[in-house]
Amino acid sequence: MPIQKTPNIWFNGKLIPWESATIHVMSHVIHYGSSVFEGIRCYAQPHGSAVFRLPEHMQRLLDSAKIYRMELPYSLEELCAAVVDVIEANGVAPCYIRPIALRGYGEIGVSPHGSPIDVYIANFAWGKYITGQGGADVCVSSWNRMAPNTMPALAKAASNYMNSQLIRMEAETNGYQEGIALDVNGLISEGSGENVFIVRNGVIYTPPLANSALSGITRDSVLTLARHLGFTVVEQALPRELLYIADEVFFTGTAAEVQPIRSVDRVLVGDGKVGEITKKIADEFFSIANGLKSDRFGWLTPVKVNAAETVTA
Ligand SMILES: Cc1ncc(COP(=O)(O)O)c(C=O)c1O
Repeated sequence: MPIQKTPNIWFNGKLIPWESATIHVMSHVIHYGSSVFEGIRCYAQPHGSAVFRLPEHMQRLLDSAKIYRMELPYSLEELCAAVVDVIEANGVAPCYIRPIALRGYGEIGVSPHGSPIDVYIANFAWGKYITGQGGADVCVSSWNRMAPNTMPALAKAASNYMNSQLIRMEAETNGYQEGIALDVNGLISEGSGENVFIVRNGVIYTPPLANSALSGITRDSVLTLARHLGFTVVEQALPRELLYIADEVFFTGTAAEVQPIRSVDRVLVGDGKVGEITKKIADEFFSIANGLKSDRFGWLTPVKVNAAETVTA
């Protein structure tokens, strides 16, 4: 879906017109992928709108920057306030929010220290990321996720998404909606932009972060909700073949939200219908995100924009 532009983008502490948010082709980030970013959703509420887990996302941005030794000149509080400001100035909700910190125009050598750090925050309307009635058809990718000590998987850095693009393109070329990547040891890692969950015999499994997975905020939300709903949740290394004998499989992610998976490599997951546990967790997730159930974990930051429509399961 083409980007739906809005009037303003937050740039280094002020709002600038969307068209002015451009960078020079010789910027460090263009050549070496030197940026870290976030993806956040703002949901419709019965009255107004609210950003889902804003401080956690902005803390992850700061963490990604720290891993890459990028010193951002903004505090967590300032970054959170900037997100609220740009959403309210644009008056667009529900929306997706894309903060990005990048190495700009300075020097062309690989060492990034001579290039300035610029921070931008955009927000725009964005609907479903993975579509498909009754669940997505996915494959196991021939591409592995990054090996430990190569590209840091815990940093949400643009460069990691070259690997994600290979996974996603291969899946689409072969008629699937998304790919699941294994880690360098052949154990389940994650989707190109999602964490993976498996349900078998009533137990919910997800790979630990050490299997080269991003520390997903939705992953954390689902782990919390599942435990509160009384399910047993296990974070452990998972072999590929568990995907073929699982009762339920689903993705989590800010873009994908809670996304049921119908088949893996053309093998039906369970009976091919959305599983009971997946549905319970998705319902709980969307009820809280959309303000239909109490925000008992303190996950919502209100913004003063009347939402146009509700994003649901
Ligand atoms: C590679 C990858 N894994 C997992 C996720 C899910 O993370 P989150 O739930 O924080 O969006 C994302 C999306 O940001 C991602 O790009």
